[in-house]
Amino acid sequence: MLENKILITGGCGFIGAKVVKLLVGSDYEIFVIDDLSTGTREAIPTNRVALKICDIRSEEATRYIAKIEPNYVIHLAAQIDVQMSLEQQLLDADINVMGTLNVMQACQSLPDFKRFVFASSAAVYGDNRDLPLVEASLTVPTSPYGMSKLVGEQYLALNEETHDFPYCALRFANVYGDKSGFGKDVISNFWRQLSGGVAPTVYGDGEQTRDFIYVDDIAQALIHALKVSQNGTYNISTDEQTSIQDVLRIMNTILSTTISPQQLPARIGDIKDSRLSNQKFMMTTSWRPRYTLQAGLEKCLKANKRKEQVLSK
Ligand SMILES: NC(=O)c1ccc[n+]([C@@H]2O[C@H](COP(=O)([O-])OP(=O)(O)OC[C@H]3O[C@@H](n4cnc5c(N)ncnc54)[C@H](O)[C@@H]3O)[C@@H](O)[C@H]2O)c1
Repeated sequence: MLENKILITGGCGFIGAKVVKLLVGSDYEIFVIDDLSTGTREAIPTNRVALKICDIRSEEATRYIAKIEPNYVIHLAAQIDVQMSLEQQLLDADINVMGTLNVMQACQSLPDFKRFVFASSAAVYGDNRDLPLVEASLTVPTSPYGMSKLVGEQYLALNEETHDFPYCALRFANVYGDKSGFGKDVISNFWRQLSGGVAPTVYGDGEQTRDFIYVDDIAQALIHALKVSQNGTYNISTDEQTSIQDVLRIMNTILSTTISPQQLPARIGDIKDSRLSNQKFMMTTSWRPRYTLQAGLEKCLKANKRKEQVLSK
């Protein structure tokens, strides 16, 4: 019997679609659950992947998981909007905590279940300034979103204790890539503003730093995590800090623009600096981040330009 069935929840989203594309053509039989709330059907090759359109919180999802009996799950489906999590805490917790529990519980009774890989986030560390952050660093989420990810991790750790549940939680740093049209992250915003000839918005002095990681490196890390034998939590990052002003400088150079930013007051709740150590995952697997920020930005800006040319035809 083939024991390589993999379910990717949120497989039609930004990161999920990358993972699906990497796995197509491999030994895995691929299943996706997605409610298409932010993802799109067109993002994945539906002729080679079984797509179930439903909510991860639903009975329908539970029944589907029992029916297909996946050996592996990469759980990406979530509401990812930090601002929305502040405004609608109940909804955020319902999708991110209850949804995760529903998927996890459905996997607990499967006959040959090998690993549950959970997409967590650097948001669990909140404004901890003890950089670089390691997995044992203090977790002090500053948003309901960060809290929901931490609670998801803790349920997994608890179920490892009580049910021997095999899992891996990956805390992603700031993920960027070719999501030009709809992304709300700083790089997507800069792309839209620079390509539209508008002054990019910088909050505060722009000297705040982030650990930016290219989406292809995240997708590779998720695939490596399937085979990790040690349950637990791992940071996925580049372990490099880049200031927002430097991001803008690099993007201006790549796009051959010279647009100065429009500076607005710092936003309440924004953290000053972020950098995650990736040593633990690199000691455990052969995964390495392959893209410098310059290389990742060049690749995603080229992809964005190609998409725009196709759309304008
Ligand atoms: N993008 C980042 O910078 C980042 C950073 C840290 C962690 N993460 C985590 O990575 C995961 C993927 O993020 P992304 O950037 O690809 O987001 P995304 O919004 O592009 O993808 C999420 C996918 O899940 C689906 N979905 C949402 N709610 C659902 C529900 N209730 N039932 C079924 N499907 C549902 C959406 O339609 C979408 O296809 C998320 O868990 C997110 O929290 C992302």
